[in-house]
Amino acid sequence: MTDEPRHFLDVDDVSPTELETILERAEAYKRAQHAGEDHEDLDGQTLGMIFQKPSTRTRVSFETGMTQLGGHAVFLGEDDIQLGRGEPLKDTSRTLSRYVDAVMARVFKHGNMEVLAEYSSVPVVNGLTDDAHPCQTLADLLTIREQEGGFEDVSAAWIGDGNNVAQSFAIGAALTDIDLTVATPEGYGIDDAVLERARDLGGDPTTTHDPVEAATDADIIYTDVWISMGQEDERDVRMTDFEGFQISTDLLEHTADASVMHCLPAHRGEEITGDVIESDRSVVFDQAENRLHAQKALLSWLLE
Ligand code: CP
Ligand code: NVA
Repeated sequence: MTDEPRHFLDVDDVSPTELETILERAEAYKRAQHAGEDHEDLDGQTLGMIFQKPSTRTRVSFETGMTQLGGHAVFLGEDDIQLGRGEPLKDTSRTLSRYVDAVMARVFKHGNMEVLAEYSSVPVVNGLTDDAHPCQTLADLLTIREQEGGFEDVSAAWIGDGNNVAQSFAIGAALTDIDLTVATPEGYGIDDAVLERARDLGGDPTTTHDPVEAATDADIIYTDVWISMGQEDERDVRMTDFEGFQISTDLLEHTADASVMHCLPAHRGEEITGDVIESDRSVVFDQAENRLHAQKALLSWLLE
């Protein structure tokens, strides 16, 4: 590859028009896959998948997606490759670039994702860092469009931790003009720099510490775990700090018949009750399925 590759480290690595193209392609892939039609647009291509943290959805949707596109994916758990024994990321990146057509990675520090991208001559896709989860946002936007018929006049409430999923969702909401309110306990808000990026993109996220204020009249209620991967030591303090932020049927009374979203895995009885997850308001498994279609669209768009 001679041209600089496009990377996808967060949602605003694509323009609103490019995002629309990717979402439309995802819808086409979803229709094709449900109809059993061939769509082997990445015939013979290989995706390397680096994982420093566990995964169910990201791993399986990327691997299955590559197979459905006629390509192949290689799972590279940190401890299965020399990275786990200290080989520098920049060497790992340059080596993988000589073999594979794209790299997807799940790492702790966002800066490490940037190193991978800097040294890669093939597209690098962020499969989650401590700061961002943009592939999740692509699936979320696809799900919201299915539920609401578009993004116009859609209001969404993020309730819980202002974490990686929240931060990428805030960027995605800004790019699609979704009206977003973010309710977090004090000290757990979205980073100021991310809010500023969202505003620069034309978004106007409201922040509050009141979950009821956020939920009132919302079309979408979105939450995620209170303890993300790598934060296990903070469990006790977080369980106290997040009291009152649980998504329950009582909280949903304040909404406009909202759809409930969660990126999964969910911790029933913590950030969300079991009955809400199992209710007909819940679209969490549509979100999970849409990871597959959205990422296939992203990969084929990055590699064309
Ligand atoms: N939502 C999500 O990324 O799930 P996994 O951790 O299972 O990949
Ligand atoms: N915020 C969660 C998302 C898991 C998909 C975490 O980082 O663990």
